[in-house]
Amino acid sequence: MSMPGADHERFRAEHPLLARAIDAILASVRETAELLRQGDSSGQVGSVNSFGDKQLKIDVKADEIIFSNLRSCGAVVTASSEERPDELDLGGQGFSVAFDPLDGSSIVDANFAVGAIFGIWRGAGLLHKTGAEQAAAAYAVYGPRTSVVLARPGRDGKLKVEELMLTEQGWLVCREDVRLGEKKVFAPANLRAAADNKAYADFVSACISEKYTLRYTGGFVPDVHHILTKGGGLFLNPTSSGAPAKLRLLYECAPIAFIVEAAGGASSNGAESVLKMKFDHLDRRTAITLGSREEVARSKHCLRA
Ligand code: F6P
Ligand code: MG
Repeated sequence: MSMPGADHERFRAEHPLLARAIDAILASVRETAELLRQGDSSGQVGSVNSFGDKQLKIDVKADEIIFSNLRSCGAVVTASSEERPDELDLGGQGFSVAFDPLDGSSIVDANFAVGAIFGIWRGAGLLHKTGAEQAAAAYAVYGPRTSVVLARPGRDGKLKVEELMLTEQGWLVCREDVRLGEKKVFAPANLRAAADNKAYADFVSACISEKYTLRYTGGFVPDVHHILTKGGGLFLNPTSSGAPAKLRLLYECAPIAFIVEAAGGASSNGAESVLKMKFDHLDRRTAITLGSREEVARSKHCLRA
């Protein structure tokens, strides 16, 4: 990676191909941040991706930027994105990358913070792997500032979670050790499910009675980033028959859960950590709760009606 410092030099020496893949991600984030600032982010191109979501111009462009950087870095064999959900051979060797190029495309026109999500696995192919097998994961937050939270191998084989900030001097580490404790803050996504999922409705009422603080933007990345920045809290996206799961395991939940668990938090699909779930198919969706351990334990019963 291009950051100064002994720790990054050691990482680059021990994991040269992984460092190259991460460099490609950081370069993509920088380009996407510039694109978002240019302001042509709300025009729709009218195409529809294979999952049926309407694609915005910015989604397509961010997707192209990331594929292009991953291809040219030479360290990526296979890549797949939420916008192009096939396993594409990028001709390199070392790692496979799955990504959501623009998380929050429905709120980009409102000028809310949006993000991007990246999971990195050793070797070729993504199908039938699990989130637990990731070598590293990252998300980018495009807000008033651009930052990246990265979980990667640190000293002694342990995972390290750090936050990098894009500055005029390039990428700088702004938080060396991102850790999660306990906080009474909650982000209740897919709240429509509470209409026919009584456990979810009761859980939200309990949070209100217990004076939890609500922090909810409608973007998975900024909502999770709030928790990781403030040192605790809960994001949950329960489901019901009338409001099924939207979040994708491969492109969204697995990389974010990897980062949250590496920071000392937890994730659950109601039965087990989402990191244990296999990518049976690239479009697998899941209900999810993640964040502070106690909050996850408290909320996991309400994920399904
Ligand atoms: O589709 C994914 C997503 O936009 C996430 O980024 C976000 O957490 C969620 O949907 C929000 O869903 P809702 O608006 O239903 O709460
Ligand atoms: Mg998304």
